[in-house]
Amino acid sequence: MELITTSLLCFLACSAFFLFLLKPFSSNKRANLPLPPGSLGWPYIGETFQLYSQNPNVFFASKQKRYGSIFKTHILGCPCIMISSPEAAKFVLVTRAHLFKPTFPASKERMLGKQAIFFHQGDYHIKLRKLVLRAFMPEAIKNIVSDIETIANDSLQSWEGRLINTFQEMKTFTFNVALLSIFGKDEILYREDLKRCYFILEKGYNSMPINLPGTLFHKSMKARKELAQILAKILATRRQNQQDHSDLLGSFMGDKEGLTDEQIADNIIGVIFAARDTTASVLTWILKYLGENPCVLEAVTEEQRSILRAKEECDEENKALTWADTKRMPITARVIQETLRVASILSFTFREAVEDVEYQGYLIPKGWKVLPLFRNIHHSSDFFPEPEKFDPSRFMVAPKPNTYMPFGNGTHSCPGNELAKLEMLVLLHHLTTKYRWTVVGAQNGIQYGPFALPQNGLPIRLRSHS
Ligand code: HEM
Repeated sequence: MELITTSLLCFLACSAFFLFLLKPFSSNKRANLPLPPGSLGWPYIGETFQLYSQNPNVFFASKQKRYGSIFKTHILGCPCIMISSPEAAKFVLVTRAHLFKPTFPASKERMLGKQAIFFHQGDYHIKLRKLVLRAFMPEAIKNIVSDIETIANDSLQSWEGRLINTFQEMKTFTFNVALLSIFGKDEILYREDLKRCYFILEKGYNSMPINLPGTLFHKSMKARKELAQILAKILATRRQNQQDHSDLLGSFMGDKEGLTDEQIADNIIGVIFAARDTTASVLTWILKYLGENPCVLEAVTEEQRSILRAKEECDEENKALTWADTKRMPITARVIQETLRVASILSFTFREAVEDVEYQGYLIPKGWKVLPLFRNIHHSSDFFPEPEKFDPSRFMVAPKPNTYMPFGNGTHSCPGNELAKLEMLVLLHHLTTKYRWTVVGAQNGIQYGPFALPQNGLPIRLRSHS
């Protein structure tokens, strides 16, 4: 017994000694690694002006051409490493995701709410993701296809004959669908109040975080408080009625471990934020690309008319679109896929290294921001021949792994992607079978706000088309 104890102690002592030797050696070894190539620009300002004085994608593409698929820079006061190969994106977002935490400006965190899903890693994040995915998986959203259809038809009818700003109108459509997915049919009761507060809140997203009366930020914070009060009222009514709901609020309230009211409010505001402008921007780009590619528009229209014809021929009285119908739209689905690639509205995302990390012989220092550049990967001719060409047929063959990430990848990838695709298909069904549109004015420019958008939000005039 004594021998075993002595041997064990000896073993532990030796192991501790080796670990002692090894630990500083391994971190020193990392610290001695070179940083990726690139320039950090001017002290503090870094290369912020170079990034923002031109189309940011030109900045990323020219850096990649000069330094390769991993390079360093310094923007908005932060040292950054930008990566633009599928392997590096997979390393940061999937296989070593635990070494790279999500990071956002403090003002965004205050406005959306600290407890929103985007800002977390670990157990709390896993729990939230499970609840969000439960509400947005195909099984759950199958039941709201006809309600989305009603919202789409109402929107299209309200645009007819008018000169509209496509992006602004699409925002109203995607906002109403987001509310439907969160509050179910109750949404109509709260739509106007929620809309009023949310519109004030969003004006502050990119403002200076100065919380003094009169500032945009202050107004936003006030609107945020009011939003939380409206949500508290909705929660109280639901608790009183004790009914089960399959929407997002139902999923949050039905969790046995329970979310606090504050956690629910932060995540509902967060989901509206994630769902609205993203989907509205993609829809705006779809209208632009369809307008520029009449043969593609014709093919989509024909596909959608064939669905209408099949419904007319069938005996069922209810002619509303179904989930199954939306699975019979491969051409339209490819138009959506190709638009997500060409427009790449989220050109990149942000992470922060939680410790010194080695990647391909380079050091990614702890605390540095790491930006996987989705757009560069989507626009690489290695993976997408003639990358600037809008060609939905390229998706008849599945893209290579990790080369197509419009909804991100890994632990924080988009849980709303099925809903986003569904609402776009439903809107396109009614748009192409009943209407035609003309773009007003020459619209070749792109604006960033913060997503890439056709200039002036793509003003169009819509008319009915039999
Ligand atoms: C075409 C429209 C959309 C696009 C292109 C898009 C894209 C993305 C991307 C790239 C991410 C990952 C960001 C990262 O890794 O840092 C993300 C996350 C997220 N998206 Fe979407 N999204 C869209 C629509 C939606 C919709 C409709 C919803 C909700 C109904 C939604 C909810 C979310 C949420 C909650 C997250 C955070 C997930 C997490 O942190 O675990 N998105 N989205």
